[in-house]
This record gives sequence, structure tokens and C-alpha cells, in this order.
Amino acid sequence: MNNKFSKILKKKNRSKIICLTAYSKNIAQIIDRHCDIVLVGDSLGSVLYNYKSTKSVTLDIMIEHSKSVRMGVKKSLMVVDMPHNTYRNSSEALKNAKVIISKTKCDAVKLEGGKKIYNIVKTLIKNKIPVMGHLGILPQSAKNFKAKGKKTIERNSLLKDAKILDELGVFSIVLECVESSLAKEITKNIKIPTIGIGASVYCDGQVLVTDDLIGLNFIKVRFVKKFANITKQINNAIIRFKNEVKNKKFPKKINSY
Ligand code: KIV
Repeated sequence: MNNKFSKILKKKNRSKIICLTAYSKNIAQIIDRHCDIVLVGDSLGSVLYNYKSTKSVTLDIMIEHSKSVRMGVKKSLMVVDMPHNTYRNSSEALKNAKVIISKTKCDAVKLEGGKKIYNIVKTLIKNKIPVMGHLGILPQSAKNFKAKGKKTIERNSLLKDAKILDELGVFSIVLECVESSLAKEITKNIKIPTIGIGASVYCDGQVLVTDDLIGLNFIKVRFVKKFANITKQINNAIIRFKNEVKNKKFPKKINSY
């Protein structure tokens, strides 16, 4: 594993890991300055394409967006989600992960699941493909979007999944909507960092969909905090442009040839 990975591993129990999503170059280059990990999440399916679920996201869509993101990411670790139905077995996963890495030059791929994808993760890691895990709500296969880890049986199985992924050698695990005390327990019991989304302050880092946190995507879920209202700022800029065009104040001589 290269320096970027060891930097992230070293942050466990020391300082929080910052992870955000990017789907294109312009946002990527802004967040790259502040992040440890930039994730090209398949959440782009709902955020950009209005798909009902991430299940409709294809490998080609992920690759094209990731190529754009790659141009903006200089210092952070870049992770790309393997979309639904691209890792149904080990050979399919290996073939597609290699395509993602060679075409996008990302540093790692993210896969959803625990013991169910044991052989797949094992194959990728054996072939030197760095993997980020994802447990809790798994949008690619979720039947509902209820928080995970309230029932004992679910808690035990999530903790077991996290330990399995840790032992397999994934470099970190996203915990999505995992009940706080379980997120704390998982974080304590594995060597690698946990990155939470709706999974409490006890995780080693946090991830959010950038469009949600800047107020560009109108989603109302408990785990999102709107840190800016970028839509308002875009609106204001466009209103000013429109007014200046109508009043012949734009373009000025300096803007013309
Ligand atoms: O697809 C995505 O953006 C994600 C994050 C929300 C963790 O998986």
C-alpha cells in the first residue's frame, strides 16, 4: 500500500478522516484541498440522474464521471464505487475493478457487503486492488432505508461483517446509518478506520454527499447537515446576469472583442 493509504490508516484514534463525494472535476478540485478521501459514489444515480435507486448506475457512467473527477484530485485518495451487478462473482469483480482502475486511475474501489462478498473481496485484495468496505444500509440491495443495528441479531452480524472485512485487508469501512453504540463498538474492535454517514461521531471519519452538504441537492434525511445554501448563491448570480443583460450593462467593452 502506498503512502496515501498509510496516512489514512495512521489517523485511526488520532484525527478524523474527511471524505466527500465528487462526480466531476470542478467540485473535485475544491474538495481535494480539504479531504483525505474523495469518493466517486454511485449516489450520483439519484443525485444527478434522478434514478429511483443506485441499481441503475452502470459501469460506463461511473467511469466517465471518475475520469472527470481524476482531473481535479491531486492529493486525496480517490475511491470509486463499483456499481450494482458489476461484482456478482470473483471473476466479474476482478475484471471490472481492473477496468475501473485502468480507465480512471483511481486508487481504490468500494463494494457493498460483508461475508456475502467474502470471496470477491479476497480475490480483489489478492490481486493488489485496494478495497473500501461498506456496511449498514447497502443502497444497491436495500429493501428499506431503516437504520441498522437496533436488533441484537443484526448487531452481531454487522460486527462480524466488519471483522471479516478487516481481516481480509480492506483499508477502511463506510458505516451507513449504523446505530451509534454499534458504530462505536465496530470502530473499537477493528484495526482499520470506519467512515460514518449517519453513524455517529464515534466513527474514525465522516463522509457526506457534497451536493447535500452545500445545499445543491434537496434531500431531507437526518444524517445530512446543510453547511451552505449554494442554490441561493447560484440563483442570485443568475438574477444579476439576467438583469444586466436586459439592461444592456453586460457585456461591457472589456467583455467584448
Ligand atoms: O454512493 C455514495 O455516495 C456513498 C456514500 C454516501 C458513502 O456510498
